[in-house]
Amino acid sequence: MAELREATEVDLPWIVAITNDAIRTSDTIWTETPVTLTQRSAWMRTRQETGFPVIVAVEDDAVVGFGSYGAFRAFDGYRLTVEHSVYIAADARRRGLGRQLLMALIQRATSDGLHVMIGAVTATNAASVALHRSLGFSASSVIPQLGLKAGRWLDLVFMYRLLGPSEPEACSP
Ligand SMILES: CC(C)(COP(=O)(O)OP(=O)(O)OC[C@H]1O[C@@H](n2cnc3c(N)ncnc32)[C@H](O)[C@@H]1OP(=O)(O)O)[C@@H](O)C(=O)NCCC(=O)NCCS
Repeated sequence: MAELREATEVDLPWIVAITNDAIRTSDTIWTETPVTLTQRSAWMRTRQETGFPVIVAVEDDAVVGFGSYGAFRAFDGYRLTVEHSVYIAADARRRGLGRQLLMALIQRATSDGLHVMIGAVTATNAASVALHRSLGFSASSVIPQLGLKAGRWLDLVFMYRLLGPSEPEACSP
């Protein structure tokens, strides 16, 4: 088990490295442009100032993964829905860290009174789909050719999980 804690500025170089490796070697992030430390720093600050988590998994003083969520869409009707993501360093996968981080995000979202978590997952990402299913997420229909990377179409599936009571009036305002 890794130690999980809220991320701080010192974790940013690790977060940037993990993000850019995923951009370079996979279709999980739909861009070919690496992120910079400045961009990741601004992203983290915005998340944390808005009350959203950025959680890192730490082993032997090294960040081996991170997970976060933020607003799904801007209209206030979506205020109880968050979109999350989890990234594990390539050499730390298949050791339960993705599950540990996603469980922590579910726990945090539940205790914050949120109602739906949703992950936008590349449809061919079998590892992410299986991870989400193992924690009670359902899959939406696949939306074909929603993105383009390196000259190939990418299909998307939303993995979603309801968290709170089903009656709207029982949820936070
Ligand atoms: C998807 C990802 C987060 C999984 O993290 P992980 O730490 O390797 O996964 P875990 O070891 O916690 O595995 C949990 C479950 O996920 C599934 N899983 C994980 N990797 C898998 C793989 N390569 N193939 C099939 N299923 C896989 C399994 O159901 C596994 O449970 P099991 O070990 O009991 O069989 C990781 O592969 C990753 O960071 N990938 C690149 C980024 C990404 O796809 N992020 C998700 C976008 S939201």
